[in-house]
Amino acid sequence: MRLILLGPPNAGKGTQAKQMVEELKVPQISTGDIFRKNIKEGTPLGVKAKNYLDEGLLVPDELVVQIVNDRLDQDDCRNGFLLDGFPRTVAQAKALDSYLEKNNLNLDLVLNIHVEKDTLIKRAIGRRVCKSCGATYHIDFQPVQIDGICDSCGGNVVQRDDDKKETAEKRIQVYMDETQPLIEYYQSKSLLKTINGEQEISQVTDDIMKEVKENFQ
Ligand code: AP5
Ligand code: MG
Ligand code: ZN
Repeated sequence: MRLILLGPPNAGKGTQAKQMVEELKVPQISTGDIFRKNIKEGTPLGVKAKNYLDEGLLVPDELVVQIVNDRLDQDDCRNGFLLDGFPRTVAQAKALDSYLEKNNLNLDLVLNIHVEKDTLIKRAIGRRVCKSCGATYHIDFQPVQIDGICDSCGGNVVQRDDDKKETAEKRIQVYMDETQPLIEYYQSKSLLKTINGEQEISQVTDDIMKEVKENFQ
């Protein structure tokens, strides 16, 4: 099963991906997570990517495409994958098409999580992430049990650098300019299903799984 989770920053892609991989048994590939890990470890890729993430801008296509192609070549992607945050430009979508074509593979479904701008900003400002394991929380919608401490690993829970209001707004603008055209791109291939992302987390998951099942039975 080869799926894409599309949607604006803070729509809930990562939150939903975590639920989906458990049920679908395919790996989640989050380009944002890959960049943050490399930045934390100070790798050459991290050094190249850091400024873009800090500014809320997209990392150049060539760099992203190479990383994703390498990741998709790994064994655990043989039975499928869930792309979270990739593709984000038409050029990236075309690069993915050629990768799949070269390997005789098809995309099964693109799930577009729709959330209005005001909600996105509220989710960004309140989001907290675990520094150790990457688990995601929200001060109002998905709080930790003990202040500042991750429920699952006991690590420190902090705000992501790009979740300050100004950068979150910038990311939404970048999404509208560069990523939104992908809705039409995948609609024209009859692969797109739009999900109402303004509901409770578990309801969004149910709607997503319903679409997935409808397309695989
Ligand atoms: P990335 O990490 O992908 O950021 P993003 O797209 O901005 O998405 P987020 O991770 O911010 O949000 P999400 O949709 O995963 O929401 P989440 O589940 O956390 O990318 C970061 C940067 O990396 C980019 O700016 C760019 O620089 C670079 N990059 C990455 N991919 C790239 C690419 N392909 N090309 C170029 N550059 C790239 O949820 C958000 C919050 O809301 C959480 O607090 C959560 O608890 C809460 N929440 C979730 N769902 C609900 C709900 N239903 N109700 C209430 N609260 C909810
Ligand atoms: Mg995410
Ligand atoms: Zn943790």
